[in-house]
Parts: sequence; C-alpha cells; structure tokens
Amino acid sequence: MLTNIPRHVGVIMDGNGRWAQLRGLPRVEGHRKGAERTKELIKAAQEVGIDVLTLYAFSLENWQRPDDEVTTLMELLQLYLTRELKDLIMEGIKFRVIGDREKLPAVIQAIITEIEERTSANKGLTLVIALSYGGRDEILRAVKKAISGGIRPEEITEEKFETLLDTSGLPAVDLIIRTSGEKRLSNFLLWQGAYAELYFTETLWPDFTREEFLCAMQDYQRRERRFGGIMSPSES
Ligand code: FPP
Repeated sequence: MLTNIPRHVGVIMDGNGRWAQLRGLPRVEGHRKGAERTKELIKAAQEVGIDVLTLYAFSLENWQRPDDEVTTLMELLQLYLTRELKDLIMEGIKFRVIGDREKLPAVIQAIITEIEERTSANKGLTLVIALSYGGRDEILRAVKKAISGGIRPEEITEEKFETLLDTSGLPAVDLIIRTSGEKRLSNFLLWQGAYAELYFTETLWPDFTREEFLCAMQDYQRRERRFGGIMSPSES
C-alpha cells in the first residue's frame, strides 16, 4: 500500500521516433507502440490511486513535423479515442483535453467533445490529454479571456487566473515524468508545474513499463516538498 501519492501526475511521452529507428521501423510504429503503452500507464495510475493523469500527446510545435507524420498521429489518435471510449466510460474515467483544440481536425474535435460529455459525471481517474498544447499558449489564451471578459487588474488573483486556464478545476501537477533522457519541460504545464517534482528516465516511451512507473512513484515518495518554505504543508 503506497502512501504520499501524487494527486496529479503529468507525463511527457518522449522517444517514440528513436524507439522505431533503433529497430529499423518507420517512426509511426514508435507512436503506435507508444499509444499501447498509455493503456498500461492509465491502469497503473488507477491502481495507485492518482486523481489526475495528464499525458502530453501532441504539442503545438508538433504541427511543424512532416505532413505524413502529423496525419498518421491524428489517425492514430482518432482510432485510439474511438476504440477506448467504451472502456473509459466503463471504468469510470473522466476524460478531458487541454490545448488549442480548434487547430485539430473537426472529426477529432467532435470525438473529444462526445467523450468529455459522456464521461463528465464519472468519479474515477481524470485522464487529461494535452493535444495541440503549449503552456505559453495556454497562459496567453487565459490572458486574452481575462481581457475580453473585462476583468480589472486589481481583481486578478492566482486563483481567479487558474479558472481561465485549460486545467481549470484540476489540482496543480505534483510530479512530471519525462522519458527518453531529455531533461526539459518543453512547454508542458508551465503554470501548473511551478512546484512539480521532476522524474527523468533514459527509457524510451514505448519501453516505459508499469514497473518503472511504480519506481517513479517510490522516488516521489522519498522527496521532501517544501514549496519554497522550510517544511512540507502536511508537516506545518
Ligand atoms: C514524442 O516522441 C512523442 C510524440 C510527439 C507523440 C506522442 C504520442 C503517442 C504516445 C501516441 C498517441 C497518444 C495517445 C494518447 C493515443 P518523438 O516522436 O518526439 O520521439 P523522438 O524524440 O525519439 O523522435
């Protein structure tokens, strides 16, 4: 039985392309295998009792990849969402997408809206997929909403501003995992991750197992979180 579980875990699923190249396969095979891995991770997150799992599936910068890779990633996503819908509903998962969804193909926007609506009353794990997402873009969109909503400068607080972000209502991210040896946040949950613990592993995303996820949980449990103070909030 694990104690001191992070409420919100974010995952930067990196290394699909290298995984495929190492095997002499097209990059898309890495994405395919990577999509399979997400299912194992979602199960493990449910077992451990995490409240929110956010997966970085497609960044705003990823639109600059070659057309055929973008198209295949969108097809994969559509297939994945359509196939998994029933299971998400059955397992009580609440589904949510963050990012600039207007840039996504109309068919994917429609599927996302349907899944969000059909899972909105679910009480289990909240599964958030970051799609066409960039942290700076999310903050800028929130600023624009504030201005167009006529909010006066003296009315703005951190709490109020958070309600304008795509993650409105979700807790701050406690732990961010990044696979494939890169040690960067790459524009992921910039506001929400201000005090996040970071876990980096050399493992490429398609090789990231349930066991390694549990290792990341154990590593998190050993961390002392002080939020800029001298004690963690639970000790004060
Ligand atoms: C980074 O690897 C990964 C992506 C840009 C896409 C992530 C997508 C998936 C795991 C599949 C779809 C997701 C869901 C939720 C169905 P990379 O291509 O940058 O790898 P590289 O750095 O080795 O080139």
